[in-house]
Amino acid sequence: MTIRFDDRVAIVTGAGNGLGRAHALGLASRGAKVVVNDFGGARDGTGGSLTPAETVVEEIRKAGGVAMADGADVSNYEQVKAMVERATREWGSVDLLCANAGILRDKSFAKMEIADFAKVLDVHLTGTFYCCKAVWDGMRERNYGRIVLTTSSSGLFLTPLLMGLNEEARKSLGAQVPHPARLGHASEYGNLAVHIVENPMLNGETIRLDGAIRMAPR
Ligand SMILES: NC(=O)c1ccc[n+]([C@@H]2O[C@H](COP(=O)([O-])OP(=O)(O)OC[C@H]3O[C@@H](n4cnc5c(N)ncnc54)[C@H](O)[C@@H]3O)[C@@H](O)[C@H]2O)c1
Repeated sequence: MTIRFDDRVAIVTGAGNGLGRAHALGLASRGAKVVVNDFGGARDGTGGSLTPAETVVEEIRKAGGVAMADGADVSNYEQVKAMVERATREWGSVDLLCANAGILRDKSFAKMEIADFAKVLDVHLTGTFYCCKAVWDGMRERNYGRIVLTTSSSGLFLTPLLMGLNEEARKSLGAQVPHPARLGHASEYGNLAVHIVENPMLNGETIRLDGAIRMAPR
């Protein structure tokens, strides 16, 4: 059976790159109309541009899908609300949310500035809450909604971040994954989002795509 999302509307945040892009392409290829959200800044959350989101929209359209770009900053509730209102106005609803947007301000505890810590919480925690909040009432009214939240086992996937490592380093990291003894591909992550969204019996679960790392003896 082919899983389809025809007539469903999805928002994928942070979909201009990496894993979010894979979620957006996966949902669009199965018929969902996709809001490709991306604030389009640098990896540390500074700057901003619509180009990454527009590039993914172009990719979806070329493959025959339907998509629109939106540059909302997920840590700004007014912008998130406007994005949801725009999708609802143009396509009638928001049925699926994949909250994936994130930034990187990795520093040791001693070096972490208060502003860095606050910004990470703003985007990852508050931003995720804002996106869920903005779609929630509409989903309840229509009695249909799917929300997928992602977390950091994505570090085991060949996203642009890990592609920045040399091949030897990637092999060495992959060898630590018990099964399948390699790093995952972004599409293997995107495919899971499709299955979660499709299955109404799957609710409130935490699913770890970690190559069985949690099962390995320590
Ligand atoms: N890849 C990894 O190794 C790794 C590790 C841990 C956590 N994560 C998390 O997984 C998610 C996806 O990772 P990725 O590697 O694909 O990251 P990525 O940097 O390739 O993509 C994240 C996207 O989110 C967008 N974004 C950032 N702040 C935003 C905001 N305020 N509003 C809207 N869009 C915003 C960025 O512009 C970027 O395109 C992120 O939340 C990331 O923090 C990834």
